[in-house]
Amino acid sequence: MLVMRNVHVPLQSGWERRDVWIEGGRYRRITPPEHGDFISGARVVAPKAGFLIPAAVDPHVHVREPGYDYKEDWESCSKAALKGGVCAIFDMPNNKEPVTRERGLLEKRAIALKKSLVDFGLYVALTDGNVDEIKETKIQKLISGVKIYMAETTGGLLVRSDRALLQVFGQPKPVLVHTGGAEGLCRILHFYTKAKKRVGTLPVLYICHLSTKEELTLVEGAKREFLSLKAEVTPHHLLLHRKNYEEYGSVLPNLGTPEDAECLWDGVARGTIDFMGTDHAPHTVYEKKKKSPPAGFPGIETAVPLLMTAFGERKLPASRLVRFTSQAARELFHLGDGSIMPKNSASCVLFEEGEWEVGGGYETKCRWSPFEGVKTGYRTLLTVVRGNVVYRDGKFNKRRVRFITA
Ligand code: DOR
Ligand code: ZN
Ligand code: ZN
Repeated sequence: MLVMRNVHVPLQSGWERRDVWIEGGRYRRITPPEHGDFISGARVVAPKAGFLIPAAVDPHVHVREPGYDYKEDWESCSKAALKGGVCAIFDMPNNKEPVTRERGLLEKRAIALKKSLVDFGLYVALTDGNVDEIKETKIQKLISGVKIYMAETTGGLLVRSDRALLQVFGQPKPVLVHTGGAEGLCRILHFYTKAKKRVGTLPVLYICHLSTKEELTLVEGAKREFLSLKAEVTPHHLLLHRKNYEEYGSVLPNLGTPEDAECLWDGVARGTIDFMGTDHAPHTVYEKKKKSPPAGFPGIETAVPLLMTAFGERKLPASRLVRFTSQAARELFHLGDGSIMPKNSASCVLFEEGEWEVGGGYETKCRWSPFEGVKTGYRTLLTVVRGNVVYRDGKFNKRRVRFITA
């Protein structure tokens, strides 16, 4: 039994103080502070200014292993996730050898089962020639979704075939798209519309990392037609823009203008944007200092504390933060209700409120952050995955992880 005493939890009414009792992987009781009976043998955590939220689920991560494990590997990435309050990650297929077939998926799953400290799911990349194979059970039972690159980025996985772009909607798993901007977004919506006329139930179409006002407007319009259309934004496209961040600035999509960032915040507040995806894309400092650096920022370690801080500053409700960082992705991947309520599976992160700054002590192997020096109001004390304390005060505890395929 683990008891977290007198911590703030997000309720419909806002943050309220509660005692939270966890046993057998689940929340047992949520009581007003000090109202629960004393239970001998219980582990009690009583932070000074504790804030407990459902642990985040990150649908957009580039773990890098196999192939680029000098940048990041499953152990370092999952440790960075836990320190950032993330309990499950979904890994992109643009590895050194792109993951496009069963063999690549099996190889990655074997590595992750051995090394990951968080639950995980995998994506397969669509190519001009593999759509029929993706529909087969042997691939379907290994994936959480299909990733499409409509524009050039790390990995060279651009899809050109019209047949592939249409047929991919004839399989049931979510289809995630790196659009490369408004043009690619319109193009994939064209195929989605076409597929609607042919297939009964469409899979979810998930637009990755919105970065401009234009894309947000397009998504908003298309969402009126498609309930199954979803959109993601990264913490860096919300918190950074061309005017406040330049160093190691190469990222795809590029950082927007301050106005773009404000519009994206609006999209989050209104619920047009469903998911926080970190697009954690680690590259070494050496690589980022080159004349033509690879695109991408690490982000999984800092995302939730920074967003907690920003939501507070913007007076956005805690319930919206929980939907954005956890609940929407839990629904997408059928992970069950993660809210802090009796009987629900207990995956949560306990933050301490205070004044800190991003920098140093990184778990990510690349050991840098675009948020270096940024003030943050929260620091992770403890991360619980399905009832087990897997991170506490800088220490990790490896448990059996779950391979997610729903
Ligand atoms: O900046 C990016 N980095 N954007 C992407 O789409 C890919 C990613 C990577 O894999 O490095
Ligand atoms: Zn992308
Ligand atoms: Zn990405």
